[in-house]
Amino acid sequence: MRRKTKLIHGGISEDPATGAVSFPIYQVSTYKQEGVGGHKGFEYSRTGNPTRHALEELIKDIEGGSAGFAFGSGMAAITAVIMLFNSGDHVILTDDVYGGTFRVMTKVLNRFGIDSTFVDTSNLDNIKSEIRPNTRAVYLETPTNPLLKITDIEAAAGIAKEHGLLTIVDNTFSTPYWQNPIELGADIVLHSATKYLGGHSDVVAGLVVVNSDKLAEDLHFVQNSTGGVLGPQDSWLLIRGIKTLGIRMEETETNTKEIVGFLQGHANVKKVFYPGIESHPNHEIAKKQARGFGGMVSFDVGSAENADRLLSKVKYFTLAESLGAVESLISVPARMTHASIPAERRAELGITDGLVRISVGLEDIEDLIEDLTQALE
Ligand SMILES: Cc1ncc(COP(=O)(O)O)c(C=O)c1O
Repeated sequence: MRRKTKLIHGGISEDPATGAVSFPIYQVSTYKQEGVGGHKGFEYSRTGNPTRHALEELIKDIEGGSAGFAFGSGMAAITAVIMLFNSGDHVILTDDVYGGTFRVMTKVLNRFGIDSTFVDTSNLDNIKSEIRPNTRAVYLETPTNPLLKITDIEAAAGIAKEHGLLTIVDNTFSTPYWQNPIELGADIVLHSATKYLGGHSDVVAGLVVVNSDKLAEDLHFVQNSTGGVLGPQDSWLLIRGIKTLGIRMEETETNTKEIVGFLQGHANVKKVFYPGIESHPNHEIAKKQARGFGGMVSFDVGSAENADRLLSKVKYFTLAESLGAVESLISVPARMTHASIPAERRAELGITDGLVRISVGLEDIEDLIEDLTQALE
């Protein structure tokens, strides 16, 4: 099955009981047993639900792993994955991970004895030099948010394997349509499915795919024990969203390339961050490990005042957190998605007050360029 076909026919694409071509929403919490333990594969919906199972099979197939898991949010998915580790363990993470990932590692999971170090993983030497006897995993986000830095997944996973560590990749920005970390050597891939996989700004969800039966068993144990599962309605919305992921990613890519060209030539834009630009420091790695560069672009307009002026003038770019939907979204990371990162750390990372991030949607490109033109005047 090719990629767009798999998005539609992967997993469990129809209801075996009725032939319905849209998998039904099993809005149910428990299941009749004929005798004690005599059930048809489902006992209780925290442990397993048919609609969630259909989604979990679908994401497993499109990421190319051995099992999939659906959670109530991307953060619930990330937390469950880190709960595979024990008190005293250490994880090395990409330095400009999503602010919520930084927050959960440094303000919540640290209280349970899980230690973390954040380094620029686009430089592989930084990973090597932070490995300690108690390190258990390398956690990569690539491309990063909001500076679109790229880590070489295959090379990082190679280093991790040499030291007996797991490689975990947050694949939210690229999606499995463009990038498949498990094929590149990762052990666990996760998503904020709230973004491109859902694609319509109408569901909050997280997905995880693992590459071995042992990890599948361990993660199911955490999922069932801690209970942060996705409900059947939201599972169905994600299955529907994923069916159009391919055409949405292709169209976003086309619009984004036009916008990047426009921004690069604009006098009021100081710098554009996009892995598809040839001068981007990690452009060659991006080209090697992903089939597309994605729909996220960040650019620096010089100051918070300039950013505010731009935000007040745009018509088709909605000022909102989140990304990856049909409508174009705009945000200022320093005061929104990355506000939970201390100011001095933001400065170290290069997340300036004038940095604007856009998630390019599926509107007509002429309207988007006209909108940015008047707003940047
Ligand atoms: C790259 C990335 N990972 C994880 C998350 C967290 O996902 P959620 O908001 O679905 O909990 C986000 C949210 O913006 C994100 O951008």
